[in-house]
Amino acid sequence: MTRYENVLESLIRAPKTWLITGVAGFIGSNLLETLLKLNQHVIGLDNFSTGHHRNLKEVQRSVSDEQWMRLKFIEGDIRDLNCCREACHAVDYVLHQAALGSVPRSLNDPISTNQTNIDGFLNMLLAARDAGVSSFTYAASSSTYGDHPGLPKVEDVIGNPLSPYAVTKYVNELYADVFARCYNFNSIGLRYFNVFGKRQDPDGAYAAVIPKWAASMIKDEIIFINGDGETSRDFCFIENTIQANILAATTEDHDARNQIYNVAVGGRTTLNSLFVAMKNELNLNGVVYTKDPVYREFRDGDVRHSQADISKIKTKLGYAPTYSIDGGVEKAMPWYVKFLN
Ligand SMILES: NC(=O)c1ccc[n+]([C@@H]2O[C@H](COP(=O)([O-])OP(=O)(O)OC[C@H]3O[C@@H](n4cnc5c(N)ncnc54)[C@H](O)[C@@H]3O)[C@@H](O)[C@H]2O)c1
Repeated sequence: MTRYENVLESLIRAPKTWLITGVAGFIGSNLLETLLKLNQHVIGLDNFSTGHHRNLKEVQRSVSDEQWMRLKFIEGDIRDLNCCREACHAVDYVLHQAALGSVPRSLNDPISTNQTNIDGFLNMLLAARDAGVSSFTYAASSSTYGDHPGLPKVEDVIGNPLSPYAVTKYVNELYADVFARCYNFNSIGLRYFNVFGKRQDPDGAYAAVIPKWAASMIKDEIIFINGDGETSRDFCFIENTIQANILAATTEDHDARNQIYNVAVGGRTTLNSLFVAMKNELNLNGVVYTKDPVYREFRDGDVRHSQADISKIKTKLGYAPTYSIDGGVEKAMPWYVKFLN
């Protein structure tokens, strides 16, 4: 039995209370669905700035009435310390996902990104510390590797940040580390590498590549590739990310706490090969996309290649990704076909 299977079993036997910030967003709503299906009690916090009511409704439809009753939803903002305190009350495990994502958004509006991602993060740390939660797991980011050219990325070798967003995510790690030293606070930072899956928003100027392309292919619109298409990423299906969060939150191993971990698959997929994989998978789902991609300028703030070394999270937390990029694309595309029709 894997550590993950063991943890899931013990959670079902003895349910815990979890706080998910950013619960109406892509990753937050998927965490919510998994935890409710495990009969956990969940407090969800969101201000709907980039999240959607429809995500919560979809989770509600996927669980029983009894499971749905185990969610207490708070519409509120992490920039408000009192709201964070209310949300952390009597919580065992915090999964802090609320943030303003997107490198381009942060380049256009660094102040808003800073307010939510740094001020809001600090509020959450304080509230969680004062509430005496057992653990605080937070969404860090692969953008922290910045301009360091080394591949694959190993947790303790980072470069200079390439965007305000990357600065905020690195500051989160610094604050969490200081809270461990000064207040004996227990946290784990998960550096996500390009997560994808159902409910990732395909709309708006700041949509991520997979949902954006899925929508364009389904609507038979032109797809733009920034640069020559040989830019690569370690795309990570949402189920792997959920596993990492649950393993991190529940670890009792002192050496595994107050650490940063890469969360990815350890692969490298170019945008050109992603394009082909998505087109083929959508084709199997009845979507015929015949256009060729249009190549344009590289985008400011983007790193050229990104690939994670995942040995640390495997060793210390027992993480074992269950989905490759192909397996994830196979699961995610039918959802977009249904969602956009
Ligand atoms: N998706 C990825 O590939 C990826 C990669 C690296 C890191 N991350 C991080 O993972 C986390 C979740 O990302 P996501 O992809 O689910 O994004 P998302 O935009 O779908 O979800 C973020 C959620 O946080 C909420 N939120 C934002 N500001 C808030 C505030 N001030 N108060 C309360 N709620 C607020 C939004 O309404 C939204 O529901 C973020 O911290 C993001 O930076 C994501």
